[in-house]
Amino acid sequence: MSNLNLPHGGALTERLVPPDQAMAWRKQKKLKGLWPLTLRQLCDLEMIMSGAFSPLTGFLKRSDYDAVVTRMRLQDGTFWPVPITLDVAENFAEKLSVGDAIGLTDADGGLLAALKVEDIWQPDLSQEAIQVYQTQDVGHSGVARLFSRSHKTYLGGTIYGLEMPQHFDFPHLRHTPRQLRDLLATRGWSRVVAFQTRNPMHRGHVELIHRAARAVDGKILLHPVVGETQADDFDHYTRMRCYEHVQRRNADADMLLSMLPLAMRMAGPREALLHAIIRKNYGCTHLIVGRDHAAPTGHFYPPYAAQESIAQHEDELGIKMVPFQELSYVKELDTFLPQEELESDQTVLTVSGSELRRCVKDQVPIPSWLAYPEVVEELRRAHPTNEKQGVTIFFTGFSGAGKSTIAKALLARLMVAGGRSVTLLDGDIVRQNLSSELGFSRAHRDLNILRIGFVASEITKHGGVAICAPIAPYAATRRKVREMVEEHGWFIEVHVSTSLELCEARDRKGLYAKARAGVIKEFTGINDPYEVPEHPQLMIDTATCTPLEAADSILRVLERQRCLGADRRDWSTPNTVGSTATLVST
Ligand code: PPS
Repeated sequence: MSNLNLPHGGALTERLVPPDQAMAWRKQKKLKGLWPLTLRQLCDLEMIMSGAFSPLTGFLKRSDYDAVVTRMRLQDGTFWPVPITLDVAENFAEKLSVGDAIGLTDADGGLLAALKVEDIWQPDLSQEAIQVYQTQDVGHSGVARLFSRSHKTYLGGTIYGLEMPQHFDFPHLRHTPRQLRDLLATRGWSRVVAFQTRNPMHRGHVELIHRAARAVDGKILLHPVVGETQADDFDHYTRMRCYEHVQRRNADADMLLSMLPLAMRMAGPREALLHAIIRKNYGCTHLIVGRDHAAPTGHFYPPYAAQESIAQHEDELGIKMVPFQELSYVKELDTFLPQEELESDQTVLTVSGSELRRCVKDQVPIPSWLAYPEVVEELRRAHPTNEKQGVTIFFTGFSGAGKSTIAKALLARLMVAGGRSVTLLDGDIVRQNLSSELGFSRAHRDLNILRIGFVASEITKHGGVAICAPIAPYAATRRKVREMVEEHGWFIEVHVSTSLELCEARDRKGLYAKARAGVIKEFTGINDPYEVPEHPQLMIDTATCTPLEAADSILRVLERQRCLGADRRDWSTPNTVGSTATLVST
């Protein structure tokens, strides 16, 4: 670990211990437990270990946390705007005492760091929301995360880094603060203006960074955030390919591209201050701050609140701001201009990163003045049109309701139409192959359904069709599966609503008789609950339709929602005439 003064950016508090000490930590038996880090925590740990969060040397202790939340300072008065905390499960914290050391691991169980526990406490999350985010509204993505995904116990203490998290993507574009400072020094860049972004860049952004560089007579660092960002953002792989295109298009400019493994909080004005400190640590002299900097979707902060907060604290930040107003496109001049240079007779078009994102998602044509065609191409590839997105068709209903039979009919229709890979995850098949050790308690049923949901969401992510046909008796678990799948594509819930009386009368597997006789315990509908879906896309009662009719009614829903391409007219067959499946909503 070191505390060196380098030419730009001040002291760095890197927290990686030398290899012999790392070995000693790994071998010592004194670690009181291993905490698997969430993605947010993993990002924070990397930022602490690399020195990007200098002067922090670990996760905030209680006194520092209180001081940061209430007055944006560590207890010793050092300016620090956003709490960097380690939240852990209560049953994990219960076993710990102050003075213990714990290990922090990545998702594979690899030990990355040790934490000397100096404080264990229950934070007041409402206060944290009000002070840091200026709202308790869960419509704010940072607040929603704080309330719903943070554990209620925080651990504070010093970090001893054993190994940096491994990244295999774009290794040539990843730099620690020290590496970046060295690179800037090697190039002789003494004035460097950083551009922070979590969005793909449009041409207004490009104009903005050129203007910023000219204004301060500096060089440009494109410094996109590639850690955790807002859930609906483009994935960082796509964005990085886009930034590389921007760099190639501007090959004659002094422009460096480097990835920042920061987990964003979307805390607007407070977060902008953090961004400034981080860029100072990376050796930059200036940071561009525009409209809605680090703001979440929704109007939670005035558009230029971040500029105001940086202006107030610029003296102690150690880095200068290059404030920018929104640039607008002027059609007659085919260029972007700031507000004050616009003339009243010009045709002016405004554009934002979020709008570009919306255009791609809504499949609106994007003109070349707005974004480079190769950038648009990357974004379109990442966000396939409706017809190319994956689909999960999720049946739910009693045993014997006809789920498997309709699922097979649907599979056949899709396979005959061709063009898609289709996977059937039938209840019995899953129980044999994925969940053979599970029974029918609520916990086991939930686990079973979540496994199906995981597989279906992977299939959907890769553009396939997953047909799931479990009983899935619990609404909350079905909702979780919907959420998992909808991150990647379409989710169509089909309630096979055949009555319990008919299912029992059919009793094709003889299970109802056994359940009535008490041989089978926890049998859905007989001695175990079934929560009827409130808002399925489709209800099918097999008392009144054939399997093929039912399958065709599902295809019509897919067609109406344009999930699988509206051109597949061959799905409709004469059999569909008179189908009694009930379309609840499209
Ligand atoms: S669940 O609740 O969704 O996990 O159930 P699932 O995996 O779909 O159940 C698969 C088949 O298990 C048979 N079976 C039972 N069903 C309900 N309750 C109990 N106790 C039970 N024991 C065995 C039943 O045949 C289910 O298949 P289907 O195709 O629904 O008839």
